[in-house]
Amino acid sequence: MLRIENLSKRYGEIVAVDGISLDVEPDAMVALTGPSGSGKSTLLHLVGAIERADGGSVTVDDVEVTALKRGRLAAYRQRIGFVFQRYHLLPPLTALDNVVVPTLPYRVGYDRASRARELLDAVGLAGREKALPSELSGGQQQRVAIARALMVEPKLLLADEPTGNLDSKTGQQIMDLLVTLRKDRGMTILLATHEQHVASRCDRLIRLSDGRITDDVDLRDGEDPATTLARVSQIRL
Ligand SMILES: Nc1ncnc2c1ncn2[C@@H]1O[C@H](COP(=O)(O)OP(=O)(O)OP(=O)(O)O)[C@@H](O)[C@H]1O
Ligand SMILES: [Mg+2]
Repeated sequence: MLRIENLSKRYGEIVAVDGISLDVEPDAMVALTGPSGSGKSTLLHLVGAIERADGGSVTVDDVEVTALKRGRLAAYRQRIGFVFQRYHLLPPLTALDNVVVPTLPYRVGYDRASRARELLDAVGLAGREKALPSELSGGQQQRVAIARALMVEPKLLLADEPTGNLDSKTGQQIMDLLVTLRKDRGMTILLATHEQHVASRCDRLIRLSDGRITDDVDLRDGEDPATTLARVSQIRL
């Protein structure tokens, strides 16, 4: 699904991503962890083609993203779901319009409003379509942001600390939602997090330090959630 080879990105003297290679299976849910400044966000931005790499390659479903020219790159970006820590909703727009808005520049073969309504229903916000972001809790706003990311039916969902602004109970609910959505729809999810309870819900944990992978741990071995959490607790996130 996703193959990263010898990927690098620098900002002046700072090497944010330093020769990362990584293969991710279809429909895997991967936690990217590591200290602040270790390159998690940069890696997500490179995979989502929000930023350009200096070297190496990102290949998604046999398309080498790092080699795409501008027009094809825009088409690629349109098919990726992105969820941010601070939701990035547009304050004057209703929940429904926030979900619809990213698809407005494009011609689509479906009814935008009805798809947005279905998605708001899927994230547990049926009945709140007309609410403004200011009228929603942090967890509800993140649900809107997730629904928005799903409008394009992404095969790849990139989430940068999706629970970072939420209390732990709300964060757990958002993780429940991502786990369910992944199961129902089939999606590969790459998410950056500092939180053990979030990382322990994923199938795989990758820890970065100074732009390199220091740990790559398989978490799918049928053990119970408490054991996985205990195991993740041994890794310094
Ligand atoms: N636009 C930018 N300009 C200059 N330096 C940047 C830029 N973006 C990131 N960096 C630097 O690249 C390195 C990696 O940053 P990145 O944001 O990827 O870290 P992170 O792991 O996401 O950290 P955090 O956990 O704090 O979100 C840091 O040293 C950061 O200061
Ligand atoms: Mg970050």
